[in-house]
Amino acid sequence: MRQKMVAGNWKMNGTTNGVHELIRGIKAGFNGSSAEAVVCPPFVYLPFVAAEIAGSAIKLSAQNMCDQDVGAFTGEISGPMLKDIGCEYVILAHSERRAMYGETDEVAASKYAAALKNNLIPIFCIGETLEEREQDITEAVIARQIDAIVDAEGVASLANAVLAYEPVWAIGTGKTATPDQAQSVHAFIRNKIAGLDGGIAESLRILYGGSMNPANAAELIAQPDIDGGLIGGASLKADDFLAIINAAG
Ligand code: PGA
Repeated sequence: MRQKMVAGNWKMNGTTNGVHELIRGIKAGFNGSSAEAVVCPPFVYLPFVAAEIAGSAIKLSAQNMCDQDVGAFTGEISGPMLKDIGCEYVILAHSERRAMYGETDEVAASKYAAALKNNLIPIFCIGETLEEREQDITEAVIARQIDAIVDAEGVASLANAVLAYEPVWAIGTGKTATPDQAQSVHAFIRNKIAGLDGGIAESLRILYGGSMNPANAAELIAQPDIDGGLIGGASLKADDFLAIINAAG
């Protein structure tokens, strides 16, 4: 049985007061769901949030990392640093990183390798743009994005990773994929991996992301191949995030 997971990607939101209020609200309302709950604050608030969630079951994730461990890489944050301050997870290859910061499949694979080497669990994002969906090449795009990490690190590496299917057209737009649309891509992903290793495919958690909210979470997460959510906008309100966790667990 795959444990469900709900991760809140705070993106570049919040200052000290807001972050304080959000994490306290989440902690106060979190009452031991069977789903795994993860928060992903901006880098500078990671130590603060780590201290706030210490002793609770809530887990910590970064939103990005460098593919190098140490050295002259101005402005970058390394895997050993994230481990040092208590991260268990790291979001990688988010579509905003791919689209706005030039992260190619090759860069994504390099970061994926660095995360695994540092015992961080990648939440590795894949997904097609609207144009790609309209051209009917969704599966080819997803396959290419998965091949980038499987070719480099092997299918066995997915035993220590989580995938997040996030159709780019659904991120921050209020346009959620329908449960059928999402399930169809999730099934494609699991079948593709099953072609390489049935056991890995069966245990791999595949999250859905893209305008998931308290109103649509339960139906999405009820799909057989959807194992939880990567939540952007709705993770910035404690009550909404908690409602999604409860819908999952
Ligand atoms: P959204 O973002 O929930 O605001 O659409 C999801 C994400 O980008 O991870």
